[in-house]
Amino acid sequence: MGTKEQLLALFESNKGVYFSGEAIAQKLCVSRTAVWKAVKTLRSEGYNIDAVSNKGYCLSVTSDILSVQGIQKYLNPLCSDVKLAVFPVVESTNEMVRKEAALGTTEGYTVIANEQTSGKGRIGRSFFSPSDTGIYMSMLLRPQNYSSQQAVRITTMAAVAACEAIEAVSDERAQIKWVNDIYIGDKKVSGILTEASFGLESGLLDYAVLGIGINVY
Ligand code: BTN
Repeated sequence: MGTKEQLLALFESNKGVYFSGEAIAQKLCVSRTAVWKAVKTLRSEGYNIDAVSNKGYCLSVTSDILSVQGIQKYLNPLCSDVKLAVFPVVESTNEMVRKEAALGTTEGYTVIANEQTSGKGRIGRSFFSPSDTGIYMSMLLRPQNYSSQQAVRITTMAAVAACEAIEAVSDERAQIKWVNDIYIGDKKVSGILTEASFGLESGLLDYAVLGIGINVY
């Protein structure tokens, strides 16, 4: 991890907390000039970093930019296999993960984007994925010895998990419209698209790409 990434991890885990340039330099084992440069770069990427004399630098509590560091701090230790890649804009997170899967990438590779220009929905539909309104993510799964019947459950498990996640961070009751849509009241707030590849001879699942789009606002 470079200085910028380390600094972002420190800031994301301590939003609203001021750190002096000196303290950051010591923590990251770099010079104060390197800290200043990293702050400048993060600001140019849109991060709202306040600087106050005698207090230092602080990432605003309202900062809401998707980043590996901003997400990683929330991951359960059981998710150590999850390898995150975060992008401001992609064509389709499912497509990106599918390409990685075909190259043999290991389970847990996850792409998250702030916008998709060619988001994919079920049965060949497109999935409207504008910026700054939703979370678009795809995860590579390689469960062992999964038949096609078992693979269907991936979508179901994801739908339950997405409902639980929505309910954990909001006061809303999320409900599954069988099998891949999530509704709050009469509004669809999330769609799930699981794409899979099976071994021709074994008939078993080679990999699944689990894609979830959630309209946050
Ligand atoms: C549907 O409602 O038909 C399913 C929509 C699935 C959308 C998600 S967003 C993340 C992932 N990437 C895609 O291109 N599609 C899925």
